[in-house]
This record gives sequence, C-alpha cells and structure tokens, in this order.
Amino acid sequence: MLGWLPLALLLFDALAGRLSANPIQEVEQRLGRTALYFLLASLAVTPLTTLTGWRALPPRRRALGLYAFLYAGLHFATFVALDYGFDLPEILRLTGEKPFILVGFSAGFLLVPLAITSFDHFVRKMGKRWKRLHRFVYIIAPLVIVHYGWAKKGDLFALRGDILQPLLWGMLVLLLLVLRLPAVRKWVSHLRQKITSVKSV
Ligand code: HEM
Repeated sequence: MLGWLPLALLLFDALAGRLSANPIQEVEQRLGRTALYFLLASLAVTPLTTLTGWRALPPRRRALGLYAFLYAGLHFATFVALDYGFDLPEILRLTGEKPFILVGFSAGFLLVPLAITSFDHFVRKMGKRWKRLHRFVYIIAPLVIVHYGWAKKGDLFALRGDILQPLLWGMLVLLLLVLRLPAVRKWVSHLRQKITSVKSV
C-alpha cells in the first residue's frame, strides 16, 4: 500500500492540476526522488535490524527494492517518453552534454539484474553469487547520490542551496554503508545485547 502511495499522490496532483508550471519536470523529479527513498529504505533494513532486532523488517526488503526499481523505471520512462518524445539522437546528445544523465543510466542499468534476480527462484539457484550480485546496491546508491547532486545544476562541489538535499541524502547513504561494515555491525549488535540485558535485570 505504502509503495503505491507516491504514485497515487502524483496522479492525484496531476489530475487536480496541482503540478508546477513545468509539470513534466515535476513528475520526473518526484519519481526520481521516490526511487531514491525506496532504495535507501531497502538499504536501511539490515542496519535497522541490527540496531533494533526488529525481525519484521527483513521480509520487507525485497518489496522496497522492487518499488525503487519501479519508480526508477517510471522516472526513466518520463525522461525518454514525455520529456524527449523518444528522440534518441537528442537523448544521446544530451547524455554527452550532461554526464549526470549517464550516471543515472548506469545506476538504472545496474538495478535491472538486481530486480530480475530478487525472486526466491534466483536466491535458491544462485547461492553465494546472489549475495555478491546484490552487493551492487553499495555502488548504485552512491551513483544515485552523484546523479542527484549533479542534476541539481552544474558544479557538484559548489555548496549552494540546491546541493544541500543531495548532500544530506549522501550522508545518510554513507552512514548506512558504514553501519554495514562487519566490525561496526558487530559493535552495534553487542551494544544492543548489553542494553537489552540491562533492561531485563
Ligand atoms: C535510468 C536512467 C536515468 C535517467 C535517464 C535519469 C534522468 C534524470 C534527469 C534528466 C534528471 C533531471 C530532472 C530535472 O531536474 O529536470 C534526473 C534527476 C534525478 N534522478 Fe534520475 N535518471 C535515471 C536514473 C535514476 C535512478 C536509478 C534514480 C534513483 C534510484 C534517479 C534519481 C533521480 C533523482 C533523485 C533526481 C533529482 C530529482 C530532483 O531534482 O529533485 N535517477 N534524472
């Protein structure tokens, strides 16, 4: 239900004429941001489970990842179909001119095998290779942050207002990745066990 909510809200706003003066751009940006939020939510499952011990989270990870893929696909489709009317030469020209689009393409391309192999059949069939493949998400998330930051106009290293949002999301990505490091993970679960044992005394 939660997964479809951003799409429903977007459709509702579009039908109610509540989009900005540049509706295609707004749709494209909202879909891109939603894809990022779901991607980060799927990345947060393991650290949150380590921190809280909440076992209800891991079964939701696949759905979160698939929603990230769905919104990234719709974001891509909006760019290709609505924004550029399938004008391939123009899309290629623009991609050469604005490398952030190439970064987006790379992130989107890497998401495809993860989405395809997210089903139980592949988890069983691929064994250890499945885990290795799904570690691509550690590359995809930083790529999306670079894509986001770069899309927010030109110079990624000039700290303007526009860059603040991608920078904050980038810091969250970094935190989520650090929390996955085996040593950090071990320390966190040790800390949690200590806290729960103090509580139960
Ligand atoms: C698949 C190829 C992709 C293409 C061609 C693409 C294209 C674009 C374009 C043209 C913009 C700028 C929109 C504008 O400001 O007018 C953009 C922004 C953005 N894209 Fe992508 N993108 C791709 C993949 C992704 C993926 C995989 C994600 C996330 C999982 C993503 C997330 C974002 C975000 C967060 C923004 C910034 C939205 C904002 O300005 O608030 N993109 N993308």
